[in-house]
Amino acid sequence: MISKLKKIINKKNKSKIICITSYSKNVAEAIDPYTDIILVGDSLGSVLYNYSTTRKVTLNQMIEHSKSARLGIKNSLMVVDMPYKTYSNKRIALKNAKRIMKETKCDAVKIEGGSSIIKIAEYLIKNKIPVMGHLGILPQSVKGKFKFKGKKNSERNKIFNDSKLLEKTGVFSIVLECVESNLAKKISKKLKIPTIGIGSSKFCDGQILVIDDLIGLNETKVRFVKKFGQIKKNISKAAKNFSKEVKNKKYPSKRYSY
Ligand code: KIV
Repeated sequence: MISKLKKIINKKNKSKIICITSYSKNVAEAIDPYTDIILVGDSLGSVLYNYSTTRKVTLNQMIEHSKSARLGIKNSLMVVDMPYKTYSNKRIALKNAKRIMKETKCDAVKIEGGSSIIKIAEYLIKNKIPVMGHLGILPQSVKGKFKFKGKKNSERNKIFNDSKLLEKTGVFSIVLECVESNLAKKISKKLKIPTIGIGSSKFCDGQILVIDDLIGLNETKVRFVKKFGQIKKNISKAAKNFSKEVKNKKYPSKRYSY
């Protein structure tokens, strides 16, 4: 039987790969029929906990949210971010990746970086841990404001070379975060594995968005974020209606009482 990972790779040049983050069961269940990959991203640090950086996210937090998301995922490939400092060397990375795979029953892990993490990615893959790469903006390394990547030639060459290195290592796909359009196009054309873009143009083989951004549950105003829903407004509306009916003694009526 063709593995879930192979299915993702086989989509390259055939159909776009749909990827969304989720940090919990109900949301995962709602998006699973429409996604190829669900990522339990360490973006949960800023999205759910209001951390200023993903560096504050712990392995335990990732594991608990992933266990919840797992309950809602039937079809999609489930990928879990390895948080900051959990893959600082080969030995630590393998120990933590094994724990993530075992406790969350995910299909793969994602780590950020290029040449600096190649040996680690290689070691994980050698030990049968499927790995997704992540280039461009690397939130675990950024201090200060996020700026798109690929302005300077040296930066473009580094990202391009890193993508080839990661592919050679055996990662099954690479997230390109805020990479300049023509560079993302060049990488996507060159690699045999799929690229998954976030703020990196339509030329990537797939796209990913953070769930709360996509459904309009937060106030993010970032150039690449398109809000495909207005969930925050819907939640407020439901809470307002509940409040009104309780105050008017309309709810709970007999129909809702024992
Ligand atoms: O943490 C995350 O959600 C991510 C995606 C934005 C790619 O890494």
